[in-house]
Amino acid sequence: MADRTVAPPSVDEVRNLLRSVIDPELGANIVDLGMAGEVSVSETGLVTIGVKLTIKGCPLRAQIKNDIESRLETHPGVTKVKIEWGEMTADERSDVMTKARWNARETASDTAVPTSARVMAIASGKGGVGKSSVTANLAVALAAEGNVVGVLDADIWGFSIPRMLGMSDRLEARRIDGVEKPRIIPNERTIGTGLLKVVSTGMLVEDEETALMWRGLMLTKAVEQFLNDVHWGELDFLLIDMPPGTGDVQMGLARMLPRTDLIIVTTPAVSAQKVAIRAADMARRSFLRVAGVIENMSHFTCEHGNVYPLFGEGGGTTLANDIGAELLGRIPIENAVAHGSDTGEPIAISGSSPAAVSIRDIARKIIEGTVPVAEMAGCSARLLESVEVALGKKPV
Ligand SMILES: Nc1ncnc2c1ncn2[C@@H]1O[C@H](COP(=O)(O)OP(=O)(O)OP(=O)(O)O)[C@@H](O)[C@H]1O
Ligand SMILES: [Mg+2]
Repeated sequence: MADRTVAPPSVDEVRNLLRSVIDPELGANIVDLGMAGEVSVSETGLVTIGVKLTIKGCPLRAQIKNDIESRLETHPGVTKVKIEWGEMTADERSDVMTKARWNARETASDTAVPTSARVMAIASGKGGVGKSSVTANLAVALAAEGNVVGVLDADIWGFSIPRMLGMSDRLEARRIDGVEKPRIIPNERTIGTGLLKVVSTGMLVEDEETALMWRGLMLTKAVEQFLNDVHWGELDFLLIDMPPGTGDVQMGLARMLPRTDLIIVTTPAVSAQKVAIRAADMARRSFLRVAGVIENMSHFTCEHGNVYPLFGEGGGTTLANDIGAELLGRIPIENAVAHGSDTGEPIAISGSSPAAVSIRDIARKIIEGTVPVAEMAGCSARLLESVEVALGKKPV
């Protein structure tokens, strides 16, 4: 217990002590993050601190409370600690995430990706939902509007981008003026008035079997090389086709290129909650933002015009709502999508089917920048809450 004969600490002293309280999710102290608000100290040693959480039901609340109390209550002159909890506004939440990203960036080395490029990683909590198909089609749709679009195939040993984009030439390294090490030159393909610049391990190794040998050897290393040692040159967009899952590559990418926004692909079939939790967990751990959700394989329309929701319905909307992001669009199931991928001519280049139109719509939304990105701060709390509601543990 504190000694009441000792004078209570000043407000500044309290603020300094609070600098040792770290938000474990955001990896910085609560003062720098702007979470510690008003501080007052009474003559009797009662310290009152306003703490704004990213979201009210934050699961880290108990830990933050314990940390604050243990730092302050042991301080001479403090008789009692009172925390007044608050919740951040959307703007404050956005600021806090920017700070967290900057903190992550401080430890990240520079990459060869131009700062003007909008970087988007196409990810999902589950394999086989169409990440690579979406990446290939979005890339050509963005290029068709006159953009220079980089495509980084981060599926190091399960690559499918070279086949889907019909680009399989071996990559070459060349010396660039003013750069000491030789740089890898991406393969290029012109689409309308735009240009694709593509790198994939499928362009380094002889065949898909050889790629298997790379397994485990250099997952994050290869991605790092693609970010650092490729001569990207001018880029409007960089799309990164992620491997299935939420493991090392994802985390490595977030560390190396923290300004990456995620586009999360789901099918209506997948248990939206499971995927949402995995994807949100990944975003949370890496401070990434979510640029939107794309529902792929939405429904199938037969030649008679009947619509069949083969893989269920509503998965994209549920996921988007759960993580607080926008649904960018729905892509129906069409044989032409798979055929386009197999022949290296993604349907979004010139197709007129509903899937092709949907992908071009999504690309336009991205170009116009009208869809707000979602900060994942507090996302785990939001999801936890929705799971509890679903399990009947909590009233809606
Ligand atoms: N909208 C669609 N209509 C029809 N077939 C599709 C559609 N989207 C994807 N496919 C097909 O589904 C299969 C899986 O797609 P894809 O390889 O893009 O998924 P992925 O999420 O990248 O898989 P992985 O997790 O293995 O990397 C492919 O054969 C692809 O052609
Ligand atoms: Mg893939």
